[in-house]
Amino acid sequence: MPDIQIMPSILAADFGHLAEGCRRAVVAGADQIHVDVMDGVFVPNISFGPDVVKMSAASVKIPQNVHLMVACPQDHIQAFAAAGSDTILIHIEAKCDVPETLAAIRALGKRAGITLNPETPAQSVFECLDHRWVDEVLVMSVHPGFGGQKYLAYVEEKIAAIRRRAEWVDISIDGGIDNRTAGRAAAHGANLFVAGSYLFRQDDMAAALADLRQQAEENYCRHL
Ligand code: DX5
Ligand code: ZN
Repeated sequence: MPDIQIMPSILAADFGHLAEGCRRAVVAGADQIHVDVMDGVFVPNISFGPDVVKMSAASVKIPQNVHLMVACPQDHIQAFAAAGSDTILIHIEAKCDVPETLAAIRALGKRAGITLNPETPAQSVFECLDHRWVDEVLVMSVHPGFGGQKYLAYVEEKIAAIRRRAEWVDISIDGGIDNRTAGRAAAHGANLFVAGSYLFRQDDMAAALADLRQQAEENYCRHL
């Protein structure tokens, strides 16, 4: 069974105290920090650049899981690698040569990940899986661009299709994850859970994070 991990998204942290948000996530038991990078082109919103990854990597010792919601990721992977990313995820819908960009991420010594928007079919990443170009597949369960949206349950079949194709790959789920939806995504084969607003709005983040982990572990692959 692949590791179940929880990755708080600092998009939901207090931007006036981002380093504190990273440390709070670690104290609560986070396995990785998820950093949402948005360029205002691939998605309507603009968020963080490489310096935020640098800040996060300097603030905490756990891995930096960097989600590039940018139109041309190939132009930025070097900067994000140098900033201290551990995993760099690009979108299959981005304007780039996907195999080449994934290979470039690995050549920089980083884990490579591919991300799919809610409407993008599972089959679009099968080539990446069959050639083992990726270490992680991130399934978006909201339309990327903003935190705090509602979980789209129709992506669950896609998680299952990816898990059936590759039992070895890390499958992350991103968008609307809480103590109810984490178990559902896990049941379909997700093992990494990005959670932003749910975790950062808690008074007791540690208890909420432990609950997410328990839901995920209890339900992992139940619906496969
Ligand atoms: C959305 C981002 C998510 C976001 C999740 O574009 O990719 O990582 O932070 O936020 P919540 O958990 O609030 O849905
Ligand atoms: Zn994300």
